[in-house]
Amino acid sequence: MKKYGFIGAGRMATALAGGLVEAGLAGPEEILASDPNDAMRLAFAERIGPQSITSDNAEVARDAQIIILAVKPQVMPAVLEGLKVGSKPGPLFVSIAAGIPLAKLEAGLGKAARVVRVMPNTPSLVGRGASAYAAGKNVTPDDLQAVKSLLESVGIAFEVPEYLLDAVTGLSGSGPAFVYTMIEAMSDGGVLAGLPREIAHKLAAQTVLGSAEMVLATGQHPAELREAVTSPGGTTIAGLEALEQGGLRAAVLAAVKAAANRSRELGQA
Ligand SMILES: NC(=O)c1ccc[n+]([C@@H]2O[C@H](COP(=O)([O-])OP(=O)(O)OC[C@H]3O[C@@H](n4cnc5c(N)ncnc54)[C@H](OP(=O)(O)O)[C@@H]3O)[C@@H](O)[C@H]2O)c1
Repeated sequence: MKKYGFIGAGRMATALAGGLVEAGLAGPEEILASDPNDAMRLAFAERIGPQSITSDNAEVARDAQIIILAVKPQVMPAVLEGLKVGSKPGPLFVSIAAGIPLAKLEAGLGKAARVVRVMPNTPSLVGRGASAYAAGKNVTPDDLQAVKSLLESVGIAFEVPEYLLDAVTGLSGSGPAFVYTMIEAMSDGGVLAGLPREIAHKLAAQTVLGSAEMVLATGQHPAELREAVTSPGGTTIAGLEALEQGGLRAAVLAAVKAAANRSRELGQA
């Protein structure tokens, strides 16, 4: 019996399986992933181990206690059809596919299926993910703990009611793209002020990383941390004035709201 099965062995599946092994939650022999794509199977096997991969979804379904559905949303209906559970208690299913509601997953897998829906984000690929998950109607507290541990092996994770997953999509799902834009703009600013591109790029990225670490490590409010680096009549307040004039705060609020709204729209389509 395998502990963790992955349907789809792409980038997210490989990151999650790697996280499980590195966190000591599973040995490589307790993981099995299926994927039709040779290159993906090879990459997964190289990271996890040669016995961890198959091209047969049914083998994963037969063997695993927790099955992570890590395929693109458009192939999900066909995948669910092949995994349908009967009346017996089956495995726990964890879907990471964007935008597929629990009701659809439960309808596809069978009424008795235990399903958790997750919204992860790309920094999971480097162990710095920010995820949220919502429980289906048949899951147990132990199931939720297992999902939390799985997600925390590649970052942080919070349980939310399903309707809040659109807000999560707007903030942490789409958020990396907003932050990349910020990094790019800061880097451009550095170049404008005379720095070589290579140095500006790294200083900008490290500044975002370090500032985020400060927020998480100190537990201080971002406004408090900002005040601590803003001396009267100094350089930082001059920059902050320009940010306020440019409407950065309003633009970021609007970006998260627009992405959350779009997620809601797509979910209803
Ligand atoms: N990447 C992210 O940051 C992120 C964030 C949030 C949510 N997600 C969700 O996570 C899921 C996986 O994303 P990803 O970036 O890891 O995608 P990916 O790298 O494309 O991996 C998906 C894999 O599933 C394979 N596949 C296709 N049909 C299959 C089938 N019937 N049975 C088994 N495997 C099959 C694909 O093979 P082919 O390439 O040959 O089709 C591919 O190797 C998506 O639903 C996405 O919405 C990802």
